[in-house]
Amino acid sequence: MAEASEPARPHALIIGASSGIGAALATRLANTYHLSLIARRTDRLEAMAGPHCTAYACDVTDAERLSETIKTAVAANGKVDRMVYCAGQQLIKPIRAARPAELADVVNVNLMGALITASAFASPRTTHSEAVYCAISSIAAQRPEPGILAYSAAKAGLDALVRGLARESAPRRVVAIAPGWLDTEMTQSQPHVYNQEFRERLAASTPRGIATVDEVVELAMYLMSDAARSITGQIFTIDGGASL
Ligand SMILES: NC(=O)c1ccc[n+]([C@@H]2O[C@H](COP(=O)([O-])OP(=O)(O)OC[C@H]3O[C@@H](n4cnc5c(N)ncnc54)[C@H](OP(=O)(O)O)[C@@H]3O)[C@@H](O)[C@H]2O)c1
Repeated sequence: MAEASEPARPHALIIGASSGIGAALATRLANTYHLSLIARRTDRLEAMAGPHCTAYACDVTDAERLSETIKTAVAANGKVDRMVYCAGQQLIKPIRAARPAELADVVNVNLMGALITASAFASPRTTHSEAVYCAISSIAAQRPEPGILAYSAAKAGLDALVRGLARESAPRRVVAIAPGWLDTEMTQSQPHVYNQEFRERLAASTPRGIATVDEVVELAMYLMSDAARSITGQIFTIDGGASL
């Protein structure tokens, strides 16, 4: 007797899946979803690729390419059930010293790319009506610290997008997570700022200590699950109480 074929998996598309939160989320979803993973570092994505995981090389600052890549992923793997926008880039510099190209880059990665994906998400050609969009914002959106204004402004725009998209794309759900400082490649790439002294000071002044990537993934899993079916248009802070 022929073996019963495996039921079709739901489709999760993660933008910014090559490291940090995106990669951890991909690992978590890998057993139940067909994954479409987008980022620039193809070597990282290829390492995760397999029969239920497709890697797409794309720089999210190339708006046309990003839009085309999503269409390609839908044609190959079906309509999207979960779309997660994790792509992010920080610029730590006083605003007076920031070059226009640097400012544009930060806005393009953190906000413009999210707008392109939101446009695709809202289309019935791309998503099922029960689809969920989850964006990774930051507490910087609500607390624009000196030195990270472009990043903060872009994340605040992302928060506005999440609230508006929840209404415009309903009954699809749209949520965001706003982490505080996390130990990922984004922060590890700024050792002159985020050194041991910074970490110790932050840990000591944060009521519940520094949050972890795993905790962010847990929250994302809940928000994207049916248990959260009545939650939409909300942004959830996870920072150990750092922003209180
Ligand atoms: N770490 C923190 O303290 C912290 C705090 C609050 C919020 N966040 C947010 O969390 C999200 C994930 O960041 P992370 O902390 O996990 O850092 P990460 O490990 O550096 O991950 C960033 C991801 O964004 C992708 N990305 C960046 N620029 C891109 C571009 N031009 N085109 C395509 N993909 C691009 C990277 O992939 P490639 O480089 O391979 O393209 C990578 O997969 C970001 O939105 C970040 O703003 C982080």
